[in-house]
Amino acid sequence: MKPFCRVVSLFTLVASLGQISIASAHEEGDLILRIGATSVAPDESSSLINTAATGDLAGTSVGVGDNTQLGLNLVYMLTDSLAVEVLAATPFEHDLKAAGLDQYGFSTRDLGSSKQLPPTVSALWFFGGAQSRVRPYLGIGVNYTTFFSQDLSSQARSELAAGSLDIDDSFGLAGRAGIDITLSDNWLLNASVWTIDIDTDASFESALGKVKAGVDIDPMVYMISIGYKF
Ligand code: NI
Repeated sequence: MKPFCRVVSLFTLVASLGQISIASAHEEGDLILRIGATSVAPDESSSLINTAATGDLAGTSVGVGDNTQLGLNLVYMLTDSLAVEVLAATPFEHDLKAAGLDQYGFSTRDLGSSKQLPPTVSALWFFGGAQSRVRPYLGIGVNYTTFFSQDLSSQARSELAAGSLDIDDSFGLAGRAGIDITLSDNWLLNASVWTIDIDTDASFESALGKVKAGVDIDPMVYMISIGYKF
C-alpha cells in the first residue's frame, strides 16, 4: 500500500500555478461534473502462483494489464476549499498474465481477463481561493473495487484445464491529486490522479487442483477531463 508518496511530487508541480485570478472559480455550493478519459495503470506485485498439488511455484507471478475507459467524476464544494468527490466509470477490462510457468512445462502466459469497477469517494482540499483560476487539490478517499465477467483464455482452459476463475473484491484507501483550470463561468479543464490500494486474491480450478495467487494491483489512475460547473 502506497497511496500518498506518489501524489506529493505531482502536487509540487502544480501548486505554484494557484495564483492567477479571475471573476468566478470554485466556491461553496458548486456542483462540478467532469467527464474524460480515465486510465488504470496497475503497479502490481503478486505472490507466487500456488497450486493444491504442488504448493508455491518458485519464479512465478501474475500480472495485470492497463485499460482506459470513459470516467465520470462528480464534485460537490462543501466550502470554498473542501469538497467531496465520487469517481465512476464504464467498466475497465484488464488482461491477466502468468509469468514463469514455462519452467514447469506450461506455455500459458495469457490467463484471461476480468472487468472491474472501482467506485471511489474522496474528500478533497482545494488550494488557492474562490477567485483563483487554477486550483490544485489533494485528497484522501475510500475505494471499493468489484471484479466481474472473468474469462479464462482458451489456452488456460486447454493446457491447464482451468475453470471457475474467481477474483475477490477489494476495499482500500486512495490518495488523490489534481488541478482544475477554469476556462469560463461554467467550463473547466482537469488533470488528476488517484493512487489506489487494491489488493485481491485470484483463484481457479485446474488439473493441479485449485490455483491461487494474491495480487496487489495498487494502480495509478489518470484522468484528463472537461468539467461543467452547475
Ligand atoms: Ni496494496
